[in-house]
Amino acid sequence: MTLRIGLIGLGVVGAETARTLRAHAPMIESRAGQPVVVTEVSARDRSKDRGIDLSTYTWRDDPMAIATSADVDAVVELVGGEGGVALEAAKTALGAGKHFITANKAMIARHGASLAELAEANGASLAFEAAVAGGIPVIKALKEGLAGNRIDRVYGILNGTCNFILTEMFETGRAFDDVLAEAQALGYAEADPGFDIDGVDAAQKLAILAALAFGGAPDFDAVETSGIRHVSALDIAFAKELGYRIRLFGVAARSEMGIEQRVSACMAPASAALARIDGVTNAVMIEGSPVGQSLLVGPGAGGGATASAVIGDIVDVASGRGGRGFGAAAASLGEIPATPITARHGAYYVRLMVIDRPGVIADMAGVFGRHGVSIQSLLQHGRQPDEPVPVVMTTHETNEATIRAVAAELGALAAAVEPPILMRIESL
Ligand SMILES: NC(=O)c1ccc[n+]([C@@H]2O[C@H](COP(=O)([O-])OP(=O)(O)OC[C@H]3O[C@@H](n4cnc5c(N)ncnc54)[C@H](OP(=O)(O)O)[C@@H]3O)[C@@H](O)[C@H]2O)c1
Repeated sequence: MTLRIGLIGLGVVGAETARTLRAHAPMIESRAGQPVVVTEVSARDRSKDRGIDLSTYTWRDDPMAIATSADVDAVVELVGGEGGVALEAAKTALGAGKHFITANKAMIARHGASLAELAEANGASLAFEAAVAGGIPVIKALKEGLAGNRIDRVYGILNGTCNFILTEMFETGRAFDDVLAEAQALGYAEADPGFDIDGVDAAQKLAILAALAFGGAPDFDAVETSGIRHVSALDIAFAKELGYRIRLFGVAARSEMGIEQRVSACMAPASAALARIDGVTNAVMIEGSPVGQSLLVGPGAGGGATASAVIGDIVDVASGRGGRGFGAAAASLGEIPATPITARHGAYYVRLMVIDRPGVIADMAGVFGRHGVSIQSLLQHGRQPDEPVPVVMTTHETNEATIRAVAAELGALAAAVEPPILMRIESL
């Protein structure tokens, strides 16, 4: 027997997957228990040089011809996008009983549950290890190694571009736009960086992790999402002074009310393992019972890291371990009960730009006091009478609804020159 692969998409990940399958063929065969051979490929431009020899593959202009081909047992989709070709290929391949492997977080975060149902109905496997944190096998960790645990919290650094930018800002004191331009020049950020820096990419990954951890359908819309555009060099400097680092965290956590899912720039104690993850590296912490805390760290993107995850799934499928996409029966993947973000309990960082005049600090403290929020620390540097100066306060535990009300009142103070900056402080 041979597992015959139809590869749709020959870009960064697709070309590397084809290259590695060929370069490591004997090792992969011994691990898979049978040869794994790419038989058919498809991309947009047949004439493009991809640095790989395409002559041994059958080229298909129409990717759907691969999804229905009699010479293909498993379809590997590496095109991307929530719908379009990727979704059509998934439905066609799974409908035809072919195994389907993808790195497509956008599609799985939206359509994962219905595709899992289709796979199950047709006796095929759906696998998407490469969709979350590239070279970190976090999906297998949740589905297999940690299957005996009740998971209480999954959180981490899920976007290398944002982590690179925040690390550089921390280390050099440079402004966001300046570091973003460098990330683009280095190829870490796209020309249109919104998908990364607005938290969308991390939110898609978090929705998938939450589904695996809490046994439901992935629900991208349930993730409260914001990015890092608003993170200033000033807040990075205050964070440093307070003993924190700012990171874009994805957090899915169990509470009494349900499951909280959110992506935002947060402060974390500089001593915490996750706060010390620098550059483009990704990291995921899984907290469960009885395991306690389990931290996975590694490369989150790039052709090699992502192809590594794709091939791991291919080997699983070839050796009969393809299993169920979310590790549970598709019929059991119901809606994950959502905890409103306003119910979040925790500490907060608040920075307000105010005109420096007597009584301002007392006015600010009065707002916190009226809402019953206790202040943990207060920072104000220098004096510039009648000029705007930053005043920073951190709080003890409160809830998000209350701190939002505090922020609204602070912004309305006569001395305030702009709305306050509010950031969650994570206890890790
Ligand atoms: N790059 C990463 O580091 C990374 C990491 C994790 C996950 N992923 C995921 O992996 C997937 C692929 O990403 P990538 O970076 O490899 O993308 P990419 O370099 O842009 O490659 C996309 C490929 O899809 C092909 N394609 C586009 N539209 C097509 C169509 N209508 N029919 C057939 N082929 C079509 C393109 O053809 P042409 O080459 O002819 O234009 C190209 O080969 C995405 O889901 C992405 O989210 C990527």
